[in-house]
Amino acid sequence: MKVAWGITGSGDKIAETVGLMERLKEEYEIEIVPYASKEGEVVLKFYRILKRVKEVFPGYKVERSANAPFLASKLQLGKFDLFLIAPATANTVAKIAHGIADTLLTNAALQAIKTRLPVYIYPVDQEVGDVTTILPNGREMRIHVRKEDVKNVETLREMDGITVLKSLDEVEEIIRGRGI
Ligand SMILES: Cc1cc2nc3c(=O)[nH]c(=O)nc-3n(C[C@H](O)[C@H](O)[C@H](O)COP(=O)(O)O)c2cc1C
Repeated sequence: MKVAWGITGSGDKIAETVGLMERLKEEYEIEIVPYASKEGEVVLKFYRILKRVKEVFPGYKVERSANAPFLASKLQLGKFDLFLIAPATANTVAKIAHGIADTLLTNAALQAIKTRLPVYIYPVDQEVGDVTTILPNGREMRIHVRKEDVKNVETLREMDGITVLKSLDEVEEIIRGRGI
């Protein structure tokens, strides 16, 4: 199975996501090609895990524009079995929820839906209220999840062609469920 894995610029859950990607690669017959948004790469650097991602996943690519690399076309031509965005920032969720396709990952998601390729999104902001996130130095930070961002997640949930994941654990269930 070949998975295109979109990584956006979310510090929240980024380390956990990369850990999961590595474990899935070890435990399943799966090829993961990470596609980072421009800010995704900034955040990977910030958390000092960019080098590791590039080493473990040599196919790693970073956004230059909405159509470069041409991920949307690869998805539409069936080069991947599924497309996943995890972690997804409030920004990326808001754009997809409103049909805005002006970044690599928002464009890829909205174009993939048109060819009925399964699209899975794990938004970091799921419920209104305070959450604790881990900073690169290991310290905790409290952040407030806004109701407007959660509303965008709900909009996404109702969108045809997109499955919103409640937790990162669901990624493994999807991979198993698709015959791996
Ligand atoms: C270190 C760092 C951590 C960030 N963490 C988050 C986050 O947890 N959630 C979020 O929605 N945005 C976060 N941001 C802000 C996004 O990176 C920013 O909104 C960016 O425009 C998102 O672009 P993208 O959605 O194309 O990746 C963070 C930024 C930095 C520099």
